[in-house]
Amino acid sequence: MNTLSQNNMNSRPIGFFDSGVGGLSVYSKFRKALPNENTLYFGDLLHLPYGNKSKEELIGYARNILNFYKKLDVKAVIIACNTSSAQAYNTIKNEYDFKIYPIIQSCAKVISEMNLTKIGVFATSATVKSLAYTKEIQKFNPQILVNEIACPDWVEIVEGGLLSSDISFKSVKKHLDEMVPFNPDKIILGCTHYPYLLDDLTKFYPKDKFIDPSGIFVDFIKSDLGFKLNQNDTIGDEKFFVSADAEKFINNGKIFYEVKNLPKIINLD
Ligand code: DGL
Repeated sequence: MNTLSQNNMNSRPIGFFDSGVGGLSVYSKFRKALPNENTLYFGDLLHLPYGNKSKEELIGYARNILNFYKKLDVKAVIIACNTSSAQAYNTIKNEYDFKIYPIIQSCAKVISEMNLTKIGVFATSATVKSLAYTKEIQKFNPQILVNEIACPDWVEIVEGGLLSSDISFKSVKKHLDEMVPFNPDKIILGCTHYPYLLDDLTKFYPKDKFIDPSGIFVDFIKSDLGFKLNQNDTIGDEKFFVSADAEKFINNGKIFYEVKNLPKIINLD
């Protein structure tokens, strides 16, 4: 391949997806680390929350979004959603000719090498049911004990604009009370929505106890993409899509990323 066609290949966009604003916690770090990349983001608010959906439903949503991105000629797709990584990734991973990065599987090795013996995980019911964090971490170090706890109401707290309310404090305290007797060295915020709750969580438990995997994830993608990174030194384009609730998406996502223009609504069903 000559240099010109290699450059054209490298300037193809990278597609992100999540059920809502959660993936913006990954997206914002990615844009800071790799500002020259052309990026797309799909928030599947029509099917939110993913955390209580079946495996079949989650595979269907992931396929629809990946097929949509395929038409947009992406060079890679980033599954910025733990639930989809846990329930859909293994089934769809070989169906596309572009690279797919799932958050859990991409971060497990680094987490397993952090010298921890007990790891707590807060995640959605579907992620906990799959035990994906436990399996992926223990692949690298079977000695590490992992305790996964589902926090089914946290996505609604974030998407419903209820952060720092009594409802949020009560729920955060309840799940911490379940986790603390396990005495974890660290607790993974295993749902991309949960870093939004960090201020509420740290009212009851030290900040340095929590791991937000988004930073580890972005470092991994950056080093893995390597020579496929865009060589252009202008700021990359951004396009946002949602399957519903475009204004809600902008308002609730503000903590992590300021989306300037109303995302385009696309129904993939
Ligand atoms: N943000 C997603 C995750 O990381 C899913 C949240 C949901 O829609 O339930 O698991």
